[in-house]
Amino acid sequence: MSVFGDPDVVPLWFGESDMVTPDFIREAAASGLGAGETFYTWQRGLPELRAALSAYTERLYNIKCPVDRISATTGGMQAILLVCQLLLDPGDNVLIVSPIWPNITSAVKLVHGQPRYVALDRTPAGGWKLDLQRLFDAVDERTRAIFINSPGNPTGWTMSAEEQQAVLDFARKRGLWIMADEVYARLTYGQRPDGRQVAPSFLEIAGPDDPLIVLNSFSKPWAMTGWRIGWLTHPAALGDQFAKLVQINTSGLPAFLQRGAVAALEKGDAFIAEMIERCRAGRELVFQRLSGLPRITVSRPEAAFYAFFSVEGVSDTLAFCKKLAKEYKVGLAPGEAFGPGGQGNIRLCFASSTERVSLGLDRIEAAVKTL
Ligand SMILES: Cc1ncc(COP(=O)(O)O)c(C=O)c1O
Repeated sequence: MSVFGDPDVVPLWFGESDMVTPDFIREAAASGLGAGETFYTWQRGLPELRAALSAYTERLYNIKCPVDRISATTGGMQAILLVCQLLLDPGDNVLIVSPIWPNITSAVKLVHGQPRYVALDRTPAGGWKLDLQRLFDAVDERTRAIFINSPGNPTGWTMSAEEQQAVLDFARKRGLWIMADEVYARLTYGQRPDGRQVAPSFLEIAGPDDPLIVLNSFSKPWAMTGWRIGWLTHPAALGDQFAKLVQINTSGLPAFLQRGAVAALEKGDAFIAEMIERCRAGRELVFQRLSGLPRITVSRPEAAFYAFFSVEGVSDTLAFCKKLAKEYKVGLAPGEAFGPGGQGNIRLCFASSTERVSLGLDRIEAAVKTL
């Protein structure tokens, strides 16, 4: 259960499940703590964690990914900020495909970079599509990087392998970096022809020295949001610079927490399967209930754990979400927080139990009926 916020509000606003991190992960961390792992440790992560991340990446994508390409970070959030610190000079701009989780924009601004949005288009079926030409046309002489979050928060939009190839070709040609946020890669509802359940990754098509940095996190697939552990996959040549940046920002992750992360990587696939089924049930419930209500437009996202829906007649979604929280005791996130393309939509995280999601939906329904 979350440890903050009004306990009477059904919390469907944060991007997290209501499941506690599985026992075997918590036990691995507890035994590291019990063994006295309380000292400063490697800036880029314990060798065991980096080896486990390398093996995990190789197994998941069928590629080579040696440990010198991997650096552990304090969550996906810090991974994003470290990349911004490394790549951006004041005044550089980053193209960001939106709607997008707002912290990404804030990280770019924090280092005095300029976010430049390229909005996804809505498809007639209620999905999302990126106009690649519009993305490429938005580049100017101060563009340093393209930020792509796929599968995306809040839309679930997932870039195809062909689109990734086009972006990679373009980035190579124009000397741009790709910042690929793949924190939702495991939370996808379709399967590949070979049965694997993972979104296409830039890692599958890029060479080891391509201008690509992939950002990832333990938070979502293994229900570890409070642990603050993530990682970067980058060209090996950047390793020392990331070590220095980690040193200055946090001086590294607690060693005993990293033991939990190793357990997640090595033994956590069954839990991820459980998480996906929980989210699939939440997704279906939300779709069935909301699509049955007048004035609501909703679709099933292809990945991640958010519904991003609109209510006819509600244009100020911030005011509407405040009203929902205060008067109806259900917490949702207003779409305008997610940049261009987000306006007029509302984000609901359905990664919780059927009971919790149903209760939230009852309250939304009551509010919508008064409109
Ligand atoms: C797209 C995206 N990237 C990164 C993160 C960061 O996750 P964390 O800092 O918990 O690892 C989030 C969290 O919501 C997210 O939605």
